Amino acid sequence: MSRAGATALRGEGLTRTFRSAAGEVHACVEVDLDARPGELVVVTGPSGAGKTTLLNLLGTLDRPDAGRVWVGETEVTALDEDALAEIRRRDLGFVFQSFGLIPVLSAAENVELPLRIARTDPAERDARVAEALRLVGLADHAAQRPAELSGGQQQRVGIARAIVAEPRVLIADEPTAQLDSRTAAAVMDLIVDLVHTRGIAAVVATHDPILRARADRVAELHDGRLIAADAAEPASDAAAAQPAEPAAPTQPAEPAAEGRLRRDRRR
Ligand SMILES: Nc1ncnc2c1ncn2[C@@H]1O[C@H](COP(=O)(O)OP(=O)(O)O)[C@@H](O)[C@H]1O
Ligand SMILES: [Mg+2]
Repeated sequence: MSRAGATALRGEGLTRTFRSAAGEVHACVEVDLDARPGELVVVTGPSGAGKTTLLNLLGTLDRPDAGRVWVGETEVTALDEDALAEIRRRDLGFVFQSFGLIPVLSAAENVELPLRIARTDPAERDARVAEALRLVGLADHAAQRPAELSGGQQQRVGIARAIVAEPRVLIADEPTAQLDSRTAAAVMDLIVDLVHTRGIAAVVATHDPILRARADRVAELHDGRLIAADAAEPASDAAAAQPAEPAAPTQPAEPAAEGRLRRDRRR
């Protein structure tokens, strides 16, 4: 396990079987997956392949029947619910397909929620919310409610909320599935930028083949099994320090925000 120290998130031998009247579903079978700081790992495969199940196991939202999960140095498999809640709050950020915003709250208030839960000092909360909204290109939309924002903007709020507490890992389950292809590409570019510039490890499930081009690594699931784990570049230890350049960007759906973020990229 020479890479153990370098991984932000790691699953080993993850196995999850669902039992129903119809029989057993092997949603996850002995899957190994890790993500290092600054690395975007895309989990792909057809509907029903086990992507959501795997992300739930890695994100401590579900427990494996067999196998183990580490978040940073901490093995979380045997922790109780309180300890898991603390790990999720401190180390993990989640982005959902359906955005998961609270309709009556403004963009800024939605982004602020994780900090309220963590009882962050109010002055620091305001600064962090402003910074997170700036990073996703929505500084000028802080007061708007979700219904007053486009789908792409709503998902940017979702991403700002996921990163506002500075997690080491971002977990996103089909974050662009409800967006048109141009907006989807722009949102994916944003995720890539955040991962590479802020050193977050990201595991993103998608079955959109276009999004695979943005990945540092692609893990392909079929019937709960990992059938391929391709590197977009050689899977060396330099991968985290030298992230692959993203594929040529498609035309951004929200040009101002995209341009600002691309120029923020370091190196
Ligand atoms: N809570 C559950 N109970 C029973 N079966 C489930 C449950 N969650 C997922 N499954 C089954 O596990 C398989 C993998 O599902 P899922 O992880 O949602 O796949 P994906 O996200 O790739 O579409 C599917 O056959 C699905 O029906
Ligand atoms: Mg799914």
